[in-house]
Parts: sequence; C-alpha cells; structure tokens
Amino acid sequence: MSTAPLRYAVFGAGGIATVHLDMIATQPGVTLVGLCDPADPSTWRIQKNYADAPRFTDPATMLRETKPDLVSVCTPNKYHAELALLALQHGAHVACEKPMAMSMAEAEAMETARAQAGKLGLINFSYRNIASFRFAREIVARCELGRLLRINCVYLQSFLGAPAQPYAWRNDVSIAGFGALGDLGVHMLDGVRFITGLEYERVVGLAQILIPEKADATGKMHPVTTDTNAAWLSELSGGVIASFETSQVAPGYGNFFRIELSGEHGTLVVQSDTPDDLWLHAGASLTRYATWKTDLPKQAVPTEFFRNLKPTTPAGIVRAIRGEVEDFPTFADGVRAQRMLGAIGESMQSRAWVTIG
Ligand SMILES: NC(=O)c1ccc[n+]([C@@H]2O[C@H](COP(=O)([O-])OP(=O)(O)OC[C@H]3O[C@@H](n4cnc5c(N)ncnc54)[C@H](O)[C@@H]3O)[C@@H](O)[C@H]2O)c1
Repeated sequence: MSTAPLRYAVFGAGGIATVHLDMIATQPGVTLVGLCDPADPSTWRIQKNYADAPRFTDPATMLRETKPDLVSVCTPNKYHAELALLALQHGAHVACEKPMAMSMAEAEAMETARAQAGKLGLINFSYRNIASFRFAREIVARCELGRLLRINCVYLQSFLGAPAQPYAWRNDVSIAGFGALGDLGVHMLDGVRFITGLEYERVVGLAQILIPEKADATGKMHPVTTDTNAAWLSELSGGVIASFETSQVAPGYGNFFRIELSGEHGTLVVQSDTPDDLWLHAGASLTRYATWKTDLPKQAVPTEFFRNLKPTTPAGIVRAIRGEVEDFPTFADGVRAQRMLGAIGESMQSRAWVTIG
C-alpha cells in the first residue's frame, strides 16, 4: 500500500476523536498537523499520545495554517455541516461523524460541495467494520438466502435513563438535532441498507421523549428536547417490509444492536456484541429441522473472511485517497440515512406514510 505523505487534522477532541486518531493518525505516512476544539484542553478526552499536536480553537485558523489533506469532524452534530464545508473549501477530504447533519438541506449541501471540490467524503457508520455484518452482506449479495422476505432491526441502550448520566448536548435538540433516532437510528438505517443492498421506499414512524428533564453535572435541571426512543416501519425496494425499534432508556440493555432478516431459504441474525458470530439457517439441507428446532444455530464468521477484513471506516478513506479501491461509507450514504431521519419526523407530523424520493 502507498504511504504517500498525508497531512491530517481533527475538529473536536471528545470521545470519538480518539477512534479517528487511532485509525487514521497512526497509519504510515500520516502526520497529525492539528487538533481544534474551543473547550479548555483539560476537558479534552483524546489519548495523551496525540496531545503534542498543534492545538487550535478557531477552525479557519487551523485549516489556513496547517493545510491538511484530510480532516475528521468529531464535534456535536450541529457543527458537522459548517466544519465539513469549511474543510472542503480549504481543499481537504473529510471524514465526518454521524448523523451527517441536522437536516436534509445541510446533508445535501455537504454532498454537493464535496462533489464540486472533487474530494472524498466519509460518514463514520462504524458498524460497517463488524465482521459478521460484512459476512452477512456477502451472504445476501450471493443470494444464499434467496429473495428477501422480512427484516427486523433493534438497537437498545439504557444509559439515558440512568440518573448518574448527566444532561449533555445529546439531550438538546438545537445541538444534537435528534436523540436516539440520530444517535442509534442512523446506524440501523445504514446497517440494513448495507447488509441487504436495498433502498428505502416509504416509512411511517413515531418518536417520543420519555424523560422530560435531566440534571447536569452541577445538579441543575434541564428539559430533554431530543427523542429517547423511536419505532418505524419501512418498505424497501422489492416490497420488503422492515420494522425498527430503538431506545436509549431500555433498562438492562448496554449496547444491543441486532439485525435479523429472512429470505426464501433461510434466516440470519447479526449482533454487534458478537462481532465474530452470526446466527444462520441457510439452505434446504436444514429445513428438515424446522419442525423441531426453533433456535437458529450460531455460526462463526469463517476465519479466512475475518482475517482479510480491513476497517472501512474511518480508516478506509486514507487508502481511498491513496488510490486504492475502497468500499467505505460515503457522504451519499449519509444523505440516504438523513433523508430517512427527516421522513420519520415528517411522518410523525402528518401521521401518515412518507414516500422516499
Ligand atoms: N460513529 C459512532 O459510532 C459514534 C460514536 C460516538 C459518537 N459519535 C458522534 O461523534 C460526534 C461527537 O461525539 P462525542 O461522543 O465525541 O462527543 P463529545 O461531547 O465527547 O466531544 C465533542 C467535542 O467537540 C468539541 N466541540 C464542540 N464544538 C466544536 C467546534 N465548533 N469545533 C471543534 N470542536 C468542537 C467539544 O468541546 C468536545 O470536546 C457526534 O456527532 C456523535 O454522534 C459517533
């Protein structure tokens, strides 16, 4: 692989920034030229080994002075669009966190600017790195399950309901745009699309705020204005029905993301907490058990498949910039997920199905 020199900078020094840094700044030939975050550096959550990089508080200053080839946008959602657009204006490729933007208009503006600039844009749909998700995609693409008949997807967490979890930007709709829908729902929307290769055609959904207020770290109460849970029903291309449910206030669930789908010949299940395994019943040879065996057998992802996996996100963009053929999640994929987030909101307002254009 090429190790051509590549200058790299990051907006946001919070929790996810270290993931970008570990996967991008550590690649051969990559130089970390700047970190930009307006918060006091004592609150930065990045690993100490990156702390020597030049620090900035003003985005434009960092871009002007460091001239990066690639920029990661790891800030709260409200700033994704403005920082991605700024980075593109300064000639950088962009690896942006999810959800891509606060609205469909912002997401489309990002994709238009990216195309006009002739740069690459990645959205960090991180579950695309999971071996079982990628193996499931291959099984579906090879038609080993036959024509797809049904899909069910859940993504459940409990952290938001815990009193010890303080109020944060994620609970403020003016900064986060969405709650569980934008935080977890986008992973579900992208995950189903990624594994099945199908596109959403229409959707009807509901979201709720089950926790009306939360205390911040000082004990001051704030209204929660982002959704804590949501459910939606979609029709995908070919008439396949998919049901979805997400919650960040489901007691007992840490981080449970599961996609189940059935085709004419079989059913498969992938779960993010068992990334090396999937539950798979495929092919006529197993149907004789169907009358008495109800549990899907658990199967290991083949060692050979697992061994050859390279992370597509966010690391894949470096290989793509250097000319390798990479199947990473693009800004166009982000726009698709964003359209669905907007459509679920529209459906809630109209109490009707929304057609996805
Ligand atoms: N892909 C994933 O699985 C995944 C996981 C966690 C978070 N995320 C996403 O990553 C983003 C950040 O989440 P986090 O958990 O790191 O949040 P965080 O609160 O830990 O960190 C955000 C950082 O951004 C900084 N910031 C705020 N405004 C800024 C600006 N204008 N310019 C530069 N920095 C700014 C804050 O000071 C803070 O240090 C969110 O969009 C979130 O949805 C994605």
